[in-house]
Amino acid sequence: MMDWSIQRLLKESPFVSDYFEQNKLDVSGYESMTFSQFLDHFSIQELEDQAIDKERLLADLPVFLRQMQEFLGMSPSALVHSLTILPGHDKSGKPEGFERLTVNTSQIISIVGPTGSGKSRLLADIEWAAQADTPTGRSILINEEVPDNKWRFSSNNKLVAQLSQNMNFVMDLTVQDFLQLHAQSRLCEDPDTVIARIIEEANRLAGEQFQMDTPVTSLSGGQSRALMIADTAILSASPIVLIDEIENAGIDRKKALKLLVAEDKIVLMATHDPLLALIADQRIVIQNGGIHKVISTSEEEKQLLEELEKMDSVIQGARQKLRNGNFLSTADLA
Ligand SMILES: Nc1ncnc2c1ncn2[C@@H]1O[C@H](COP(=O)(O)OP(=O)(O)OP(=O)(O)O)[C@@H](O)[C@H]1O
Ligand SMILES: [Mg+2]
Repeated sequence: MMDWSIQRLLKESPFVSDYFEQNKLDVSGYESMTFSQFLDHFSIQELEDQAIDKERLLADLPVFLRQMQEFLGMSPSALVHSLTILPGHDKSGKPEGFERLTVNTSQIISIVGPTGSGKSRLLADIEWAAQADTPTGRSILINEEVPDNKWRFSSNNKLVAQLSQNMNFVMDLTVQDFLQLHAQSRLCEDPDTVIARIIEEANRLAGEQFQMDTPVTSLSGGQSRALMIADTAILSASPIVLIDEIENAGIDRKKALKLLVAEDKIVLMATHDPLLALIADQRIVIQNGGIHKVISTSEEEKQLLEELEKMDSVIQGARQKLRNGNFLSTADLA
């Protein structure tokens, strides 16, 4: 691999650009050279001024490539087994009343609380692996340790898949172009099959179908949400999944959750929906910007969940009928 041109390296292993970035090496314009030739082009003065250690850079590149390949090929649970939240303070500056909160793989935690209480903020703290440097003062540990900066700040963070509350597409791309870009950056082996699957799953979640050549800017709110859910579920191997409200867009939220929550993931989900809140093993209650309580779903609640699901399917049925332009009758509520 070391005799490959930079161009070929970038093509075969796109993540190698992280290595160049981390080492502040600007390879643009030198793509036809090997990495070693590239390092040779610096003058002695430049090597000194920029503190470039040629030997080390050459020796580290294959190690980096191997580690990244292992990393990407590894099952997520082997990589991350726990996420820990250390307390900060609420909106009034009052310290949060818990010592530490650890979530392990294969657990789903819901986050509940009034509008504006700070649910999305908590997800953002986790996404950025806050280190007392956000408005809440919280810190996040991964596997009981402060996460590596390369995880915190790398442009394509592989640790966390975030499904955010609001998303607006601003780029002028078709659904296919958009997914193609994503598949490329995720080193997908068979992008066409994967893209077709994402579109199929997204259309199963959304109402009216969209196509490969639909511009992303013309998708409805629910359709773009469905697209992002399918994209996150199918393309991302991230061990931590953060979901900010999947219920709002009129998509099938239980199907969506099923798609997103694969085994050995750590899932945190902000929600206003009692069904989703109770599907979780535990729920974090947020008040005034702080974690107020952490509650384990009780046995009684689990039984009530079944009741709630029955009520919910009645509501869903009514929604479907009205959406399709039908009349609702008493029989529909039985
Ligand atoms: N501990 C805190 N200290 C200071 N500001 C906070 C804190 N927690 C949350 N905030 C701020 O409060 C505002 C509302 O929080 P957030 O958007 O997270 O609410 P939410 O619970 O997600 O509401 P919604 O249900 O409407 O989505 C944000 O600007 C957020 O940054
Ligand atoms: Mg929110």
